[in-house]
Amino acid sequence: MPFTLDNQLDLLFPSEYIPEDVKSQLHPDLHIRPLASSDYRRGHLDILSVLTVVTDPGEDAWIAQFNAMRAAPKTYYSIVIVDKKSDRIVAVGTIFIERKFLRGLGSVGHIEDIAVDKNQQGKKLGLRIIQALTGISENSGCYKTILNCSDSNIPFYQKCGYEKKENEMAKYAPPRSQTPRL
Ligand code: ACO
Repeated sequence: MPFTLDNQLDLLFPSEYIPEDVKSQLHPDLHIRPLASSDYRRGHLDILSVLTVVTDPGEDAWIAQFNAMRAAPKTYYSIVIVDKKSDRIVAVGTIFIERKFLRGLGSVGHIEDIAVDKNQQGKKLGLRIIQALTGISENSGCYKTILNCSDSNIPFYQKCGYEKKENEMAKYAPPRSQTPRL
């Protein structure tokens, strides 16, 4: 598939939200942009599976999820790095903006689901994804940007300018025959 320009894609949010200085530091064979409605076909789920178990919901359900995220404006910012030669995705990441009542109606950016193609790791793509997402968070007015990670990824996030704070707690829901949807 030939490389598709941003203005020919149906994007989750405007490309201009990704800071120019992050775009300009990428290798010319690579391109960083918002997630597009056609990215199911560019291997989006393959890259996410580098991070954890991914169940393929099929393209229609994937697009319905994309549309549900876009229907919540100024909340979901998923970005991808694309290899221009193959038009395939090689890195992904998301920031979710949480609105609060405290801190003068402040907002917090939550970084989620960072993954880089195994063959492309160690080339600063993870760093560029984190820089882009942090830029979107700070430009959205968030007073802090946070994330959860394994001990083994702490050095990576420290290189990205993050520091360890407090602890993560989790409780997984018990299995049910049908997923409840309030
Ligand atoms: N331990 C120590 N240092 C590391 C590690 C590590 N595990 N990973 C990266 N670094 C260092 C690099 O050496 C580099 O340092 P340098 O500037 O001195 O050269 C710096 O961090 C930046 O590294 P990148 O090249 O940008 O890292 P990469 O592109 O490989 O991305 C990532 C890192 C995202 C962790 C990738 O390895 C990956 O996809 N891993 C599997 C999935 C995963 O664990 N994702 C993160 C989950 S946490 C979350 O999603 C919130």
